[in-house]
Amino acid sequence: MKKYLSIGIIALLVVLFASTIPGYSQVGENKRIIDGKVKKFLDKMRDRWRDFNVPEADGKILYEIIVQNKYKNALEVGTSTGHSAIWIAWALSKTGGKLITIEIDEGRYRQALANFKEAGLSEYIDARLADAHQLVNELPGPFDFVFIDADKDWYTNYAKALVPKLEPGGCMTAHNVEEPRPAHRGGYWSGTDEYYEYMKSLPAFETSIHPRSRAGVAVSYKKRQK
Ligand SMILES: C[S@@+](CC[C@H](N)C(=O)[O-])C[C@H]1O[C@@H](n2cnc3c(N)ncnc32)[C@H](O)[C@@H]1O
Repeated sequence: MKKYLSIGIIALLVVLFASTIPGYSQVGENKRIIDGKVKKFLDKMRDRWRDFNVPEADGKILYEIIVQNKYKNALEVGTSTGHSAIWIAWALSKTGGKLITIEIDEGRYRQALANFKEAGLSEYIDARLADAHQLVNELPGPFDFVFIDADKDWYTNYAKALVPKLEPGGCMTAHNVEEPRPAHRGGYWSGTDEYYEYMKSLPAFETSIHPRSRAGVAVSYKKRQK
């Protein structure tokens, strides 16, 4: 009994001492555990994403935008099996935020849940099995980060519903968007072209295509009111 008491006291002292070392708080330790799990999962999955998932380079861009701007309230439209959601939620694990992500296909939704668990990120993700056409209108927001990556011909409708729910200083992103090419240069008018033109037409936003994106990440920052 005495022996167990001494071990308990020593363990308590070790924890108390460790918590006084800068960067070694319990919070810091939890972050290190999450980082380890996410990296291991992403390494394992590197060449295995098969469900229209974003390339790694584009996931990293979403991660950077969230961490740099300390965003906390994120929404993703189009989870698939969760690659982009993992990058977003990993960033939110650093900022203390949470992601709502929407997927209509039950098989992909279930696989995403399993992936979030294996990556150690479930507590940062509220995954919804739903039709985003409806749910995006119902979610109250506000959001400070949005990633649209679902049915391309609905992008502008998603944007119209979400622009008022985005906080000033917030960021709306969308995937597979590029500078529209005129018809004489082989271009045709697509849902993502329409989205890009719509976002660029809004004076309250600064919109561009991220220069490092592999598959076209459109980035629109909502200006802060003066
Ligand atoms: C390009 S994939 C998303 C990839 C994901 N962002 C990733 O990187 O892992 C598009 C997904 O949007 C989903 N989707 C399409 N229409 C939808 C809708 N109306 N509501 C919710 N999800 C939808 C599709 O089932 C598909 O899984």
